[in-house]
Amino acid sequence: MKALVLAGGSGTRLRPFSHSMPKQLIPLANKPILEYVLEDVGRMGVTEVAMIVGRWAADIVRVIGDGARFGLRISYIEQDQPLGLAHCVRLARPILGDDDFVMYLGDNVLPDGAADVAAEFRARRPAAHIVVQKVADPHRFGIVEVAANGAVERLVEKPAQPRSDLAVVGVYFFTAAIHRAVASIAPSDRGELEITDAIQWLLANGAAVEASRYEGYWRDIGHTEDVLACNGRLLGALRPDIAGEVDDASSVVGDVVVEHGARVVRSRIEGPAIVGAHTLIEDSHVGPNTAIGRACTLYATDLAESIVQDGSSISSVRGLRSSVIGRSAAIKSIDHGSPYHRLAISDHVSVELAG
Ligand code: G1P
Repeated sequence: MKALVLAGGSGTRLRPFSHSMPKQLIPLANKPILEYVLEDVGRMGVTEVAMIVGRWAADIVRVIGDGARFGLRISYIEQDQPLGLAHCVRLARPILGDDDFVMYLGDNVLPDGAADVAAEFRARRPAAHIVVQKVADPHRFGIVEVAANGAVERLVEKPAQPRSDLAVVGVYFFTAAIHRAVASIAPSDRGELEITDAIQWLLANGAAVEASRYEGYWRDIGHTEDVLACNGRLLGALRPDIAGEVDDASSVVGDVVVEHGARVVRSRIEGPAIVGAHTLIEDSHVGPNTAIGRACTLYATDLAESIVQDGSSISSVRGLRSSVIGRSAAIKSIDHGSPYHRLAISDHVSVELAG
């Protein structure tokens, strides 16, 4: 089995972060989303990966490379325009050949992995094997209608009036039968070749389409809330490890990782949390559910349920909650008796100031 990993999407719902980085590289527990995807693909016993990339191709290639550190061989395919998931299958045909493959969306995180579904697919090899999970907001997803006997009856992409709350998870298993389907469908109203339409085409043409209910944790990283929720979940799975320095005046409670070269001075870190390499935390309170990237500085700050990306500094700010801070950002509270806030922020930023 091969893998097709899709990392070409533009991530407009994740602005402002997607202005300066592909959403697939946003760090969760200090690791890019795409690395969780590739680790899961590796656990399925796959070695050959075709990865679709868009305008962020250079950044993705720089971070992920040829795949050797994941035990994978990755070939990159550029998609000029986001013409849909089924279009990606068309583009990857030369690499996929007639092999079975798993198509994994590069913004889907399944910390418990999908290797069990891969094994089910391998055992029976239906034309398509999809993974489904109940969701509270079905209009955001591809939706599957399933008959009483469990058979897949119909798939609809982001229905305005959903007839089911079973969403299609972004991990799909296909035999070469999918290639005829993606060649046969027409673009949807939003101008994309939808993979849901291709699977619907298989159903209409009598091919076997199976679905497995996924019981593990799954998150499609579409919005900032998804980033924070998934970050907390992944932090909870980290093995505590204090490689950096924590002074005697500091306390570390719960599962905490302090990476090499990081220093925690007169501070309290509440797990689950991670402090990236060469970061300095001084006179601060951090966590829980917080990931601080590499080479950051936190001084006299209180921050929880948040992500601070590499190279940022926060000074004398109390009560930061549920925040995502990009790279090399600087936030400080000024104490010159000024009654004003002063912001220099870029496009599509969201700031909420208390009181
Ligand atoms: C895509 C698919 C959708 C699926 C979802 C899972 O939507 O089109 O059918 O349910 O991924 O993450 P997107 O997130 O690209 O809008």
